[in-house]
Amino acid sequence: MDKTFHFSNRHLDLMARDGEAVMGWRYQPKVIFAKGKGAVITDVDGNDYYDMSSGMMSLPLGHSHPELTETIREQAERMVHESSWYSNPWAIELAELIGATLPGDLKLVNFAVTGSEANEIAMRMAIAKTGKFDIVSVIRGLHGGSLAVEAVTTVGGHRRTGLGPLMMPAKANAILAPFCYRCPVNLEYPGCKVKCLETSEELMEHLTTKEIAGIIAEPILVPGGMIVPPKEWLPRLKEIARRWQALLIFDEMQLAPARTGKMWGFQHYDVVPDVVTFGKGLSAGFAICGTATTKEIADAVTGHLGLPWSGTYPADPLPAAVALKSLQIVLRDKLTERSATLGDVARRRLDQIKSRHECVGDVRGLGLYQMLDVVTDKKTKKPDYAMAERIRYNAMLEGVCLICVKNFIRICPPLIIGEAELDDALGRLETAIKRAEAGHPKGVDFASSSSLATGEKKARKTA
Ligand SMILES: Cc1ncc(COP(=O)(O)O)c(C=O)c1O
Repeated sequence: MDKTFHFSNRHLDLMARDGEAVMGWRYQPKVIFAKGKGAVITDVDGNDYYDMSSGMMSLPLGHSHPELTETIREQAERMVHESSWYSNPWAIELAELIGATLPGDLKLVNFAVTGSEANEIAMRMAIAKTGKFDIVSVIRGLHGGSLAVEAVTTVGGHRRTGLGPLMMPAKANAILAPFCYRCPVNLEYPGCKVKCLETSEELMEHLTTKEIAGIIAEPILVPGGMIVPPKEWLPRLKEIARRWQALLIFDEMQLAPARTGKMWGFQHYDVVPDVVTFGKGLSAGFAICGTATTKEIADAVTGHLGLPWSGTYPADPLPAAVALKSLQIVLRDKLTERSATLGDVARRRLDQIKSRHECVGDVRGLGLYQMLDVVTDKKTKKPDYAMAERIRYNAMLEGVCLICVKNFIRICPPLIIGEAELDDALGRLETAIKRAEAGHPKGVDFASSSSLATGEKKARKTA
């Protein structure tokens, strides 16, 4: 039953040179990819894999979408980069279209290059608007890797180890995640009446300076374990923000556009934030992220704390044109609806897989973004990182490329994946689970090259 990879000498040589020349996180087996088409990526030996993470959750249209390829070609001939002190038609149209998809008055966009930067802009906005200083975040939230957002990131692992005072001091990771599968206050929904939020407000009272500028939250906490809040949680979080006269910031990096079966993840809930940040899927893989807010807030913060934020690359013509085209296609091809429909198909199949395997403790998610919570057994729900890693590795052997962080395995294929492809990929995933349960792979050292990687000196990053 054991199965191994057979890489060409060229492939092995590239892996070795990558290790020597490029600093980066590499997961076993350290496959080098050469091309992609639709939902499939191909390594340098010509082996195909389903891309079940859409790159870094950034390709709703999959790889090499013909219309995006055409846009890239046309725009490359026209204009790629310009001074960020001037604008271009594509950035303007992209901002307008993003504003048109957002509810309420969220119409002004401050572009950025990374999601981390977009969240830092949001934090500057909150501080500038309120004149206060504390930023409160949800435990198990992830908001990026630059130092200020690292300070409000609490997904565990070693990513903050050793950073000490480099992280922004005025913050409080005070809000308990509405993690019903492993409830932080040991109650059960709905009988709990969302006690976790009541306790969180007590924590805010005691942990903060009581001068709270903003509350930042992922509407669905993906890296922290695909925590889908109960329906009253986000509206009540907004009430808390209002009570404390703080801005409510939603980090939609992992969720928009269309991924969860709504254009924006927070649209599953009856709530509109003051500021929303975006990247990944809205970037179409071209490093264009941003922060949207209302005219009232934009007017109040302009000219303060370095706002509006700029830099060398935000809103460059090439990424703006590609992101614009991608969003137009998402809307035209009704990919929000497709995500909801295919999400139901995936969920039924994953629930069946869960019922057949003791190591799959839970399946969580919305639309075409689902996650397996891998455990030692269903009763204790103890996270089993090693099993999750083995499943990921075996899935690669089966031609399915997945992101797994800790005991959480993400199912996040491009929204254009065919139903038969999805079914095939999930069938292969179950084969991988069986092989992992049988103890395979044997003799693979995951310690320095997987989500099990630790180390005194090495800080582990998750995305
Ligand atoms: C929810 C969330 N916010 C922010 C970020 C940071 O985005 P970036 O890596 O583009 O800086 C990430 C990255 O994975 C994320 O998942």
